[in-house]
Amino acid sequence: MVKSIVVVGSGVMGRGIAYVSACGGFETTLVDIQEEQITAAKSELDSIFDKGVKRGKLSVEACNEAQAHLHFSTSLKEAASGADLLIEAVPEKAEIKRNVFETADAYSPKSCYFATNTSTMSPTEIASYTKRPSQVIAMHFFNPVHKMPLVEMIRGLETSDETAEAIQNVAHQMGKETVVVNEFPGFVTSRISALVGNEAFYMLQEGVGSPEEIDKAIKLGLNYPMGPFELGDLVGLDARLNNLKYLHEKLGEKYRPAPLLEQYVSAGRLGRKTGRGVYDYSKDGELV
Ligand SMILES: NC(=O)c1ccc[n+]([C@@H]2O[C@H](COP(=O)([O-])OP(=O)(O)OC[C@H]3O[C@@H](n4cnc5c(N)ncnc54)[C@H](O)[C@@H]3O)[C@@H](O)[C@H]2O)c1
Repeated sequence: MVKSIVVVGSGVMGRGIAYVSACGGFETTLVDIQEEQITAAKSELDSIFDKGVKRGKLSVEACNEAQAHLHFSTSLKEAASGADLLIEAVPEKAEIKRNVFETADAYSPKSCYFATNTSTMSPTEIASYTKRPSQVIAMHFFNPVHKMPLVEMIRGLETSDETAEAIQNVAHQMGKETVVVNEFPGFVTSRISALVGNEAFYMLQEGVGSPEEIDKAIKLGLNYPMGPFELGDLVGLDARLNNLKYLHEKLGEKYRPAPLLEQYVSAGRLGRKTGRGVYDYSKDGELV
């Protein structure tokens, strides 16, 4: 039974995962190699807890209890030693993920499950970095984690039924809905989202419409909650481009990244995080 969770990587996703984990009653340790990232994560988590209480989503008691479950560390070796489940949320680069899983495999109890929050990579390959492939699964959370209801779970070739069931229970205890799918590049959500986002860039490049017009058409005509450019700026255009390059390599021509997207990324227009993507957020993070 999973009681204690270690989340590795305290960036955009790791923070949110630590939040839902602590709120779900799990003893939670958020690990990062960078002290500054831990400091930034603590302050963002405090603000999410505050807003949760102010908006009536969380009682003061539940908030205090969840905060008491949250711990922070810069030592994966120490944190892993007491973990029942480790959820990895480090950058989408095979060598970084390999390093995390090799360390976790050496220092965590043999019974510990491993999950990866990868958007596109193969959970089968990630499992091969460890000596416990039957205990490895992908747990794909969505941004912002505390608001998005789904965890897409992807079984690798060796993932056991017991692991899939145990991790599905964990996701439910975190208050999430789940779908369990089999491994194929891009899973369900990243594949569709990359395709829609890329097509929108081709349209912009072809002069079909302005970003505002394309986003409005997709939102009001197709009932999407966000336009493809709004979403791309939120996720990060560099992340979107990386996903497309991977899908292009694995699944072919259909996923070739739009040249305009490549140009935006080369220019450093990565989205909200750099103050400018398709839209300009340079004034207090708000759309200018
Ligand atoms: N951002 C999104 O919208 C989103 C959505 C779904 C899935 N994902 C996936 O989640 C993962 C993390 O993405 P992110 O956007 O949170 O990244 P991020 O860059 O915001 O955060 C990554 C964190 O990992 C830390 N880190 C790097 N190497 C480490 C190591 N060896 N040990 C511990 N910490 C380390 C970094 O210091 C950083 O704080 C990626 O695989 C990404 O594809 C991202």
